[in-house]
Amino acid sequence: MGLNINLLKLREYGTVSEIRQDVISVTGLSNCMNGQLVLVSDCAKGVIVGFDLEYVLVLIVQMHGKVKPGDTVTTTMDEFKVPVGEGLLGRRVNSLVEPIDGQGIIKEDTSYPIFSTAPTVLEREPLNEVLETGTKMIDMTLPIGRGQRMLILGDRMTGKTTVGVDAIVNQKGKGVICIYCGVGKAEAAISRVTEVFDQEDVWEYGIMVTAGASDSMGQQYLVPYVAASISEYFMYEKGADVLLVFDDFTKHAWAYRQISLLLERAPGRDAYPGDIFYIHSQLVERAGKMKPELGGGSCTHLPIVETLQGDFAGYIPSNIISMTDGQVFLNALLFGEGFKPAVDMGLSVSRIGSKVQWPAMKKPTGMLKIEYVRFKELEKLTRIKAGHSSDIDDRLRQGKILEEVLKQDQNAPIAMEDQVMLLFGLQHGLLKNAGPGDVNVLVQSYIDMVRSKRPEVVEELVTGKTMTETVEQGLQDVLDMFLDSAAK
Ligand SMILES: Nc1ncnc2c1ncn2[C@@H]1O[C@H](COP(=O)(O)OP(=O)(O)OP(=O)(O)O)[C@@H](O)[C@H]1O
Ligand SMILES: [Mg+2]
Repeated sequence: MGLNINLLKLREYGTVSEIRQDVISVTGLSNCMNGQLVLVSDCAKGVIVGFDLEYVLVLIVQMHGKVKPGDTVTTTMDEFKVPVGEGLLGRRVNSLVEPIDGQGIIKEDTSYPIFSTAPTVLEREPLNEVLETGTKMIDMTLPIGRGQRMLILGDRMTGKTTVGVDAIVNQKGKGVICIYCGVGKAEAAISRVTEVFDQEDVWEYGIMVTAGASDSMGQQYLVPYVAASISEYFMYEKGADVLLVFDDFTKHAWAYRQISLLLERAPGRDAYPGDIFYIHSQLVERAGKMKPELGGGSCTHLPIVETLQGDFAGYIPSNIISMTDGQVFLNALLFGEGFKPAVDMGLSVSRIGSKVQWPAMKKPTGMLKIEYVRFKELEKLTRIKAGHSSDIDDRLRQGKILEEVLKQDQNAPIAMEDQVMLLFGLQHGLLKNAGPGDVNVLVQSYIDMVRSKRPEVVEELVTGKTMTETVEQGLQDVLDMFLDSAAK
């Protein structure tokens, strides 16, 4: 007679032997695996983070009562999974995907393991579509592909969150699912993001997954994995393009460092545990673009990292720079000068996105970057000398105009076709005689004029994404008209 045991239903019982803040050690569990879910006498949930011959280390992720030595610990032979489903759209949840927006329960469709492995090379496809961020500096000079991993780094208060959230705001009506993952943030910072979600109707296609500064270390450590699992659900099951912003990995590294110290693992460089590189690379590896057989969806990751005094060669920033496909470096000095978004072009790069940039954008932006960097150098040189030739004066004036063109307010994304029109205008004399103060008005009136006088040209540009002869002619005609009427 055969014995039929369902391993998944098999439970084991152990006993809590020691408690160190968020980490407990448990004896008596003979079968276990890393990342497994355990229940501590019905008052806490935890996840196995390490084991020894005698004991198992459990990280508490949720506690309703008080855990005491001698409490019973139950395991199920199952990895840690979280409920996922379309019901998550428009909701704010915690690390266990429980609603924290006071709007009732969320219907789950299925469950996903939080420590899933990244898709293999064979399951992936080269990136073939651009993720429009609506931030001119990024779309023009640092294009991001759907499925790319792009790091946003900079000192405190340099507009990092704004760049990430603006990219989310710009996905309205584009069919991209957006997830904002807040790690270790103060509630005030999270509510600023919630406000933007409210004002810009982001909830229609957005989700917030957060573990704030007041949540347990366990929750802060798990939250990016959970956000990645939710994004994988939409990518695999719905074939959707997903944009995931991690705000931020510095706080995540801190949480993991604290946990590791409680686990008595030997601290390494900067007191971070030796596997911190693995922890982050395991997360960002889960980004990518899938083959059509696997739904054809994509996960774009925008991890945020905070630097200290612009030191991007620090341990955590340089680790993450090496595992992403480029970085947007936000410079505190530029921010202080009022150049916002404070993207430092010299130190920012997008390693794969230019392949998917709109062809209409590629040619004009190549020159733009060089012109801007030249202007910055000239500006530095001329700062010390009082008088210079009129030629230099003119170049400085043009540089100032270019700088004005690149500035952008927060939560004011600009459509890609508008950016193409702006570049066309810039290169064909739209701002020839303008002062820095007139730039915005002139650009906006020109774009409005193209949209009203030649809608078919805009249409062709949007569908073809290239600067065909008809598009070019159309833009030129309107520009002539515009300059004529301005001259009168
Ligand atoms: N493009 C912009 N135009 C105007 N103001 C901006 C712009 N970008 C950011 N700001 C303002 O600068 C401040 C800092 O922005 P943000 O919170 O995005 O920075 P951060 O780098 O994420 O800060 P923290 O280090 O606190 O997380 C905010 O008050 C924001 O409103
Ligand atoms: Mg921030």
